Amino acid sequence: MECYTTCDELRAALAQQRARGRTIGLVPTMGALHEGHLSLVDASLRECDHTVVTIFVNPTQFGPQEDYGRYPRTLEEDLAALAARGAHTVFAPSTEEMYRPGHVTFVEMQGVALPLEGQRRPGHFRGVATIVLKLFTLVLPDRAYFGQKDYQQSLVVRRLVADLNLDVQIRLCPIVRDADGLALSSRNRYLSPQERRQALLLHQALQHVASRVAGGERNCQTLLSEIEALFAAAPGVRLDYASIADPETLAPLERIEGPAVCALAAFVGTTRLIDNTLLAPPQARA
Ligand code: PAF
Repeated sequence: MECYTTCDELRAALAQQRARGRTIGLVPTMGALHEGHLSLVDASLRECDHTVVTIFVNPTQFGPQEDYGRYPRTLEEDLAALAARGAHTVFAPSTEEMYRPGHVTFVEMQGVALPLEGQRRPGHFRGVATIVLKLFTLVLPDRAYFGQKDYQQSLVVRRLVADLNLDVQIRLCPIVRDADGLALSSRNRYLSPQERRQALLLHQALQHVASRVAGGERNCQTLLSEIEALFAAAPGVRLDYASIADPETLAPLERIEGPAVCALAAFVGTTRLIDNTLLAPPQARA
């Protein structure tokens, strides 16, 4: 496994791979890798000849009150995990390498970037779209791999690719959960043992909604009220938002008559976690 820290080195190495006719898979990450990230690496290894993993804690996608400074940085462990998995190339640049002095170009998006995370974290998707576009233009991947846990991010990236005519296929990989249902997240490291137990409510609320929909409930307001009641009754957790929306546009739904996504964000202590599930009434399933 090769590890590069400069754009020039990375470009030169990948040009050689492309010259040999190898397809390139990109797994963009901010490090602090867990099995969720590694499942994206596995998917790329299955589908592409050469897998590139980027590790970069992107400052422009964090708000001023967010956890950029304390975001876990575990490069040595990440490199060991990636080597064990069989990744071919790692790109771990410095902030100065990715944002040179005088950098003023950003990607602004409307539509799917506006609700939910976009509303709660102003500027977040501007930062995500900007760094993802920069990584796409550096790596020129055939395919890029994103996790369903950041469902809205995957829609933002798909929109970016469509709007800017980028020649890359976006692959969405399933959420990886611990045995008790907690969605894997680098931010789970912030949780105390008690908070980790409290955090299970996100998955439990999603399971509740899925089973209510399977049982015939269609009214989104009813379902959202039930989620709110579950959170209101639980100590240590505070619901930030719950949404049942169209899975392509994220427009809120009144009734579930076809595919839908239920997305949640909640604070567990001071840690903000997100989770989601795709929903479909039985007759809408293929
Ligand atoms: O999902 C993430 O880890 C980040 O948002 C990404 C896509 C690597 C961009 O910094």
